[in-house]
Amino acid sequence: MNKNDYIIRLETEKDYRETENLAREAFWNLSFPGCNEHYFIHVLREHEAFIPELDYVVEYEGKIIACVMYSKAKLVDENGNEKNIVSMGPICVHPDFQRKGLSRMLLELTFEKALEMGYDTVINFGNPDNYVARGYKSCKKYNVCFEGDVFPAALLVKALKEDALDGRKWFYHPNNADAPCDDEAAVEEFDKLFPPKEKAWQPSQEEFYIHSHSVINR
Ligand SMILES: CC(C)(COP(=O)(O)OP(=O)(O)OC[C@H]1O[C@@H](n2cnc3c(N)ncnc32)[C@H](O)[C@@H]1OP(=O)(O)O)[C@@H](O)C(=O)NCCC(=O)NCCS
Repeated sequence: MNKNDYIIRLETEKDYRETENLAREAFWNLSFPGCNEHYFIHVLREHEAFIPELDYVVEYEGKIIACVMYSKAKLVDENGNEKNIVSMGPICVHPDFQRKGLSRMLLELTFEKALEMGYDTVINFGNPDNYVARGYKSCKKYNVCFEGDVFPAALLVKALKEDALDGRKWFYHPNNADAPCDDEAAVEEFDKLFPPKEKAWQPSQEEFYIHSHSVINR
């Protein structure tokens, strides 16, 4: 697969269901039996924090095979000063096209666009394996935490400029765009719009549990 084979472009309204289906294919059974990322995308686009200028898809032979989305979030320091940042996610690549450099390409492009828009810091939760090669570092290295000085192992920070963060303690304030995903009945109802798919256990769910429940203390 070379660069001329695919198109990278902004998502349009007519792509919505196809992108949601892609997310469902990519995330299915990954973190728990089934997934909710297709519903998350669905509600995220309607949320005030959503950033349409950073909503990119990759098209290959007329089909959407990868996507990335961003939303607005905040860092607040101990004196109450605020810094506008972006939260990245979801990002996904269709299982048939993974490990070919597509997420790398999507991230490099959107990091550049985010910087042009005036953002110098990207934060997301995730498996560090997927992100350290893109220059993400542990939140602890940048002194970014949750209230109560909690530094989750899966909270990853990408500084888009060398001087983006100056070492002072920042508290991360994510937006609440994912709150509707807690409504399991709503997720189930939305899932009925897609072809039937079997929920099952797989080892990545334990990996997700470990990453999402770990914090860095020292
Ligand atoms: C995670 C995901 C987005 C990566 O996309 P991708 O196009 O397959 O990744 P790339 O081929 O661009 O690889 C990017 C880098 O990450 C590394 N990488 C990718 N997947 C990895 C994995 N499972 N384990 C370890 N390293 C991995 C690659 O070695 C590569 O490093 P390099 O650029 O230095 O060579 C994709 O696998 C996916 O959609 N997974 C399911 C959904 C998901 O987990 N999304 C992320 C939520 S946290």
